[in-house]
Formats: sequence, C-alpha cells, structure tokens
Amino acid sequence: QILIKPSCNFELEAVEDVLPSLIEQGVTVLLMSKNSDTPGIQSFSDEVEKASDDPIPRSFRSHITFKSPAVYIYTSGTTGLPKAAVVNQNRILTALAVLSSNGVVSSDVFYLNLPLYHTAGFVVGFIGTIETGSTIILKRKFSASQFWDDCRKHNVTVIQYIGEVMRYLCCAPKKDNDKDHKVRLAIGNGIRAEIWKEFLNRFGNIQIREFYASTEGNVGFLNYVGKIGAIGRVHFFHQKLFPYTLVKYDTERDEPVRDANGLCIESRKGEPGLLVSKITNLAPFSGYAQNEEQTERKRLHNVLKKGDLYFNTGDLMRIDKDNFIYFQDRVGDTFRWKGENVATTEVSDILTICDCLKEANVYGVQVPGHEGRIGMAAVTLKKEVQFDGRKIYNHVVSCLPSYARPRFIRMQSTVEVTGTFKQMKVKLVEMGFDPGRIQDPLYILDDNAKSYVPLTAQIYHAIISGSTKL
Ligand SMILES: *[C@@H]1O[C@H](CO)[C@@H](O)[C@H](O)[C@H]1NC(C)=O
Repeated sequence: QILIKPSCNFELEAVEDVLPSLIEQGVTVLLMSKNSDTPGIQSFSDEVEKASDDPIPRSFRSHITFKSPAVYIYTSGTTGLPKAAVVNQNRILTALAVLSSNGVVSSDVFYLNLPLYHTAGFVVGFIGTIETGSTIILKRKFSASQFWDDCRKHNVTVIQYIGEVMRYLCCAPKKDNDKDHKVRLAIGNGIRAEIWKEFLNRFGNIQIREFYASTEGNVGFLNYVGKIGAIGRVHFFHQKLFPYTLVKYDTERDEPVRDANGLCIESRKGEPGLLVSKITNLAPFSGYAQNEEQTERKRLHNVLKKGDLYFNTGDLMRIDKDNFIYFQDRVGDTFRWKGENVATTEVSDILTICDCLKEANVYGVQVPGHEGRIGMAAVTLKKEVQFDGRKIYNHVVSCLPSYARPRFIRMQSTVEVTGTFKQMKVKLVEMGFDPGRIQDPLYILDDNAKSYVPLTAQIYHAIISGSTKL
C-alpha cells in the first residue's frame, strides 16, 4: 500500500505516472483526504471515519509471535549502505518500556522533536507515550530558540534528546527564565559529560537518564543513577542475561585484534574496546530485510571460543574501575553528524559518479565545539580534467542530504589503500582540514558561492574559533 499526503502534489504526480503498473502489481494507493479525483486512487480519511471503534478482532493477530516483524526501520547502521533493519515485536516491547521503566506516568507531558523515522523517536518516544498513556507534544523540527517556550506553553514534564539537542540548548543565548519550566526528566542518548554538567547548571534540577541502544543491536544500557558521562553500569544479572564484552580493536586495520588462536582479546578495565554481544534466543539479531550480506557483516564469529557468535555493535566503549560504561567512538564506515549516521561508502559512491572525480575516500573530521564529525573527502581527479567546484557542488547538493555532504575536499594525486585495498582513513582523519598542516589543495563547500572554494587559513581559523558556524 502507498499512502499519499494531499498537500504533496509532487508525490501525487510521481505516483500517477506509474499508477497503471502499481495497480497491475496489486498495490493499493490511498490519498489522505476525504475524496480523490484520480481513478485508481482511493481516499483514506473517509474510510477511517467509517471504521468501527471496536477493538481489532484477535484473529487478525493470532499468528503474531514475539519474533514477528513489527516495523522495518531504515538505518545506515555502522557498515555499508542504508538498509531496513527488522524490528520484531519483542524489540518493540523492550524499547517502548524505556519510558515506563524511567517513571513516566499518564499525567506526564512528553515533548518529542526527534524524527519519527528513527527508533529513538518512534519506538522509545512515540510508542512509549501510548504505552504510558502520557500526553505527547510533537514538534515537526527541533528548534533551540522555541524549545523552552514550548515546554512552558504545554507544561512539558519529560523531554527526549540526542547529544546534539542538548548541545544546541546549552549554546543558545542565556535567558533569565532558563529555569522556569516543569521539566523533571530528560531521556535520551549521546550527551557528553561537559554538556551534561552545563545543562544541569543552566536549566535546573532535571534528572538525566542516558541510555544506549541501536535499532538492530541486541544489547542496551541505561544509566539509572545519573553518573555524569556514563551510558550505564556493568550489572551482574544483566550481563548473565545478555553476555556482552569489550574486545581490543585495531582502528588502523578496522577489525578486532586476534590472538594466535584466532580469538578476540578482551579489553582491560579503563581500556577502550569494541562492544560485542552474544547472539542468543534472548538476545537475537534479526538482521536486515533481504540483505544477508550486510547481516553477516554485523556477525562476529570465534570471539571468546571457537564457533561462538556475537553481534558487532561497531561502537567502542570503555569501562572504568567502578564498572561505569562510557561510549568512546564509532568505528568503521560511518560517522555521525547532526545526529544522523553517514555511511561513508554511500557518499563516496555518489562522489565518484561525478564526471571529474576518479576516486573518493570519505571520512568524518572533528570540529571543536561540535558533536560528531563533519564529512570530508580525499579525492583524485580523472586524467586530464580540472577540479570543477561548481559541478561537484551541484552534484552533491542534488544527491545527498545536507548532513551527509562532504564539507571539505582534499585533492590527492593517489588514494592510499591498505594491503586488502581498504582505503586508509585513520591518518586522514587525524590530519583533519588544517591548510597549515596539509600540502594538498583543500576546498570547502560554500553554499553562498554554490561551489567548493579554496579553504584558506582565514576560513580555517574562523571555523576553529567558532565565528563561522558549520
Ligand atoms: C499548565 O499549567 C497551568 C498551571 O497549572 C494551567 O493553568 C494551564 O492551563 C496548563 N496549560 C496546559 C496547556 O495544560
């Protein structure tokens, strides 16, 4: 079935173009309005009004088990191209319990401004409010300047965040009424320790419940005790139920370190390691819909014993001497920018479609004062062509969402590869985008000029000092 919004003429036209073939394939097309002028497209709203208020007959769901797929959630994951993660009923039930297990009750007013196509916003937030019977205030798009006014207007008591949200709120100009609100609880993930402290200082006594989970992963943590910076704590029973561990990771080769017997090596206390979690009946990994290759890439064999099987979270963690767990970094083929995962292979595939570019090695670089990493590409040109900043700009803007566009381009004569032809990223990431350190020509995406323009020392310093915002 395809459901179309009536306000979106563009969508309607696109569907009308292919309507005969859709009908031939047995696809029902519905328009979210009371009537439809297009033969073959049915109206939806009047059908909803006609529908009975009675509970849906049990027979409709008699075949559903804990393992049945509940939703597919589009994720760029930690490796490769975007794919549809299969989220089964059991996972939905676990994730929607985040709100109730943190004491959200029906009298609460929950403010949600995260996208509903991600697990955090949709399952934890949206379905969580249905389950707790609380009131939900949905915001189409996050706005730092409207955030607290919205909270005051709707008497919001619980907010959901990602790290960037908390940083933006702390970076907004201070106001006298910063502490004037009824928010008592903030639930989310990705807040950094320094922002956490600043947030409490500035906005008052709000409990922060930081959790860790991924759409397709089979292990999660929740920091119940408010330990600043941690995502949770090692707990004996939790670890018995969900056997997980941290193993040493070689970031240069982009794989776990193996001993002479081919097994992984557990990290010591205080050392960073890759979080892996045993795949069991209780902690299954449902994989990606119709994508066995990507599913297999997330499975790690022979971890602590020959023949065992773990889920590779792709996240580096650290456990301190008091057993608190801290998120360190994400490995491999993705980085995060503005709260979105960017799949480097996807961006590099798109860049190399551009006429003048031969190869592109995409990675994320850190910028002071920003969460995550911003996109950068080391590229080589095809023979006998010039760098055409305008052409690359147009291509990138039409093919990639803004968070995924490489902000910096570094032109190289060759792209370095490892022995297994994996592109070398670690050195490039470390060198960043400082024209003072890098001999290769550097360019920056300039939305005013609608082109990639040379990255001068002046522009560089404006970014580092924070006077130019990215
Ligand atoms: C918020 O709370 C105040 C005081 O309790 C009340 O007067 C007001 O009507 C409430 N606003 C909403 C939108 O519920």
